[in-house]
Amino acid sequence: MSEKQEIDPATVAAVDPEALEETAMRAVREATSTEDLDRVRVEYLGRKSQLKLALREVRDRNTGMQLNKFREALEMAISVRQEELRQLELDRRLAEERVDVTIPGTPVRRGHLHLITQIRREFEDIFLGLGYTVVDGREVETTHYNFDALNFPLVHPTRSPLHTLFLDEHTVLRTETSPSQIRTMETQEPPVYIVSPGRCYRRDTPDATHTPIFHQVEGLAVDEGITLADLEGTLDYLLRELFGQERRSQFVTHYFPFTEPSIEALVSCHICDGSGCPVCRHSGWIEVGGAGMVDPNVLEFVGYDAERYTGFAFGWGLERIAVLRHGIPDLRELWRNDPRLLRQF
Ligand code: DAH
Repeated sequence: MSEKQEIDPATVAAVDPEALEETAMRAVREATSTEDLDRVRVEYLGRKSQLKLALREVRDRNTGMQLNKFREALEMAISVRQEELRQLELDRRLAEERVDVTIPGTPVRRGHLHLITQIRREFEDIFLGLGYTVVDGREVETTHYNFDALNFPLVHPTRSPLHTLFLDEHTVLRTETSPSQIRTMETQEPPVYIVSPGRCYRRDTPDATHTPIFHQVEGLAVDEGITLADLEGTLDYLLRELFGQERRSQFVTHYFPFTEPSIEALVSCHICDGSGCPVCRHSGWIEVGGAGMVDPNVLEFVGYDAERYTGFAFGWGLERIAVLRHGIPDLRELWRNDPRLLRQF
């Protein structure tokens, strides 16, 4: 600033105020953005502009007044144009950056619980509704709880490493949820009303009806005066809740080491309603799971008074319920986790 500008008198002399005004005004009109306009301002009104230089050098009053009028007019024109351009730029941004909040979003597919988990919860809810408690069991069990306490004879085939996964001589991956019965009765006095769901393991080669890991729900009720009729009434209720209110139940004798008598529950076929089809192997009935009256030996084993108390128990496979209910032809499908199957439930 302090430095004296070198002014070429020829330039000043050459300024034709009218011609300058005309080019300057045209430049203002033609500016297409505020930045553009800033450049125009610097060029025509800046410190080194012809106008400023001419104003500094001007000697006669008329030219001075003329130049000042031009300066004012130009300043005014720039500020008007600036307002116009600002508005245009704002409009453009508003148009470009507009967010239409009414456009529907991209749908995100929600996951859900696996069918087996759904059925387990359903099972639990049915029994919670009957006043039962849900208890956990252990997947790693001792042979004591998995076999001895459940009255398995010493020579029972399930005790063989061909059928059961042993971790060591006395420890197995449980083959059924029934050990939960023993653990529950050992820690509480009757009355007992529990269900105990969980995974079980058997040394099976996977095929359409077997997987080495599967799920069961164990049930146990021990109280004074419990009879086989209570068991059958409870299972009839359970079957209708699981397979539909119009189903009928039937019970046939069976054998389990820890129940006497032992029964197998059958449900009338929900596919053919009893008239015979491939699902029920033309019998009209489907086997759902085992049950029975708790063997007095088992009650005595845990220190219950078998003269005073009786009980019933059952242990049903969740995979079996799933394939029956939904007509899934191969149990292994439940482990493949193909979304095309899972999505259907
Ligand atoms: N534990 C048996 C099994 O895995 C199922 C079973 C049958 C459980 C009868 C019971 C029962 O509690 O009373 O085949």
